[in-house]
Amino acid sequence: MKERTLILLKPDVVEKDAWFSIIQIYLYSGFVVRKARILRLDRESAREFYRGHKRRLYKGRPYFQKLIRHATSGQTVALVLSGESAIRRVRELNGATNPAEAKQGTIRRRFGDPNHIERNAVHSSDSPESAEREIALIFGLD
Ligand code: CMP
Repeated sequence: MKERTLILLKPDVVEKDAWFSIIQIYLYSGFVVRKARILRLDRESAREFYRGHKRRLYKGRPYFQKLIRHATSGQTVALVLSGESAIRRVRELNGATNPAEAKQGTIRRRFGDPNHIERNAVHSSDSPESAEREIALIFGLD
């Protein structure tokens, strides 16, 4: 089924000019860029975007503050990609959330920081419902 998904190329990869190489990976895999913008997320929008993570723990500790600090630390490139099973296939290209655990050849393994989970290069939607919520939020911002 043809789907849309929201991608964020996070401040860590925008800072080191790796975002263009990552977009090429998606394009070579057959996805089409439907929308694109560059923005700096403010605290309020980042907290709303990642609201599902507010109370989540990693190794018994909350990580929300760290996540928001990184998301708001610099410029983000946001994309809407479309294609066949885009949500699942983009997440396969991205690899595991933690760059240190992502398989060889995946985007997070190649471009993420193995010492900091929040610096994991990219975000992509995890369901059609989150894709629509995230697209409306990011592309609805001033
Ligand atoms: P993302 O796909 O953007 O969705 C939520 C983000 O939370 C995730 O990628 C990581 O960047 C971040 N995250 C998840 N676990 C941790 C953690 N333990 N410490 C810091 N950030 C995390």
